[in-house]
Amino acid sequence: MPPGILLPMDERPIGMFDSGLGGLTVARAVADALPGEDIVYFGDTARCPYGPRDLAEVRGFVLQIGTWLAARDVKLIVVACNTGTAAGLALAQRVFDVPVIGVVEPGARAAVKATVNRKVGVIGTVGTIESEAYPRAVRAIDAGVTVFSMATPKFVEAAEAGIRTGIYEVSRSYLDPLRRTGIDTLILGCTHFPLIDTAIRNGIGRGVQLISSAEEVAAEVVDTLERRGQLASAGRTGRHRFATTGDPGEFQRPGGSVFGGSLGHAERVELAALESLMDERLRAALVEAADADAREVAACE
Ligand code: DGL
Repeated sequence: MPPGILLPMDERPIGMFDSGLGGLTVARAVADALPGEDIVYFGDTARCPYGPRDLAEVRGFVLQIGTWLAARDVKLIVVACNTGTAAGLALAQRVFDVPVIGVVEPGARAAVKATVNRKVGVIGTVGTIESEAYPRAVRAIDAGVTVFSMATPKFVEAAEAGIRTGIYEVSRSYLDPLRRTGIDTLILGCTHFPLIDTAIRNGIGRGVQLISSAEEVAAEVVDTLERRGQLASAGRTGRHRFATTGDPGEFQRPGGSVFGGSLGHAERVELAALESLMDERLRAALVEAADADAREVAACE
């Protein structure tokens, strides 16, 4: 396109996904920042949790769901899942021809801005913590900040199932070692964790600021669409659609309280239909990414 020509407004939806309800915390922030945008949100509840799975498997899920969203003509994709971001953001950015935004880098950026004593904690799923995506992202922004990481998988179960019994005890025992490191900032490195932030706050103590990447991600979505001239026209009211691989009823009820307001009807997507989206090109991309992982591991040994 010749310079100086403005791109038209773009009313295609923003696509977002997570393993379940957690990404709705990010969807809420995006909807608040951009009330005129349509959003299609996909919760892969039937395969939740992603955290204990092999990252290569999760990377395949990222490609399947990204393809499902691309078929709905989305103009941008948000991987509203830390495990999905750690596993598959880089590959998704190569495979899809729309911008793909993850949640790790924005969370790391927010934490680096917030810390005063330059000691930051991060909690997340086993997949996210073992990937070391956060220490790497923080180091890339400011190598002088020390990161203390801890996997807290029971928090995902509690947040997804709405379990409150015993969560304060779990939180205290998980977070006690982190509290003793003297961190002043704690990244909620899983989009499910804002749903149980009261228990996390109780476990880590009042003096530590909690960082959720939701607002920072929303700001990045705004910037990206603005830069590309792809915001929807002003004065429009965005429509929000939801899909799940789980039971739509079980997704709609708790989902409504996370997103704030009724989700309306959530579409049911069969896993078989999702899996059938893996074509030759995507399979080849997965094999290439696995080879690159193996080369990286060999280089570190
Ligand atoms: N909400 C996700 C995350 O941010 C995934 C949790 C899970 O499925 O284990 O990592």
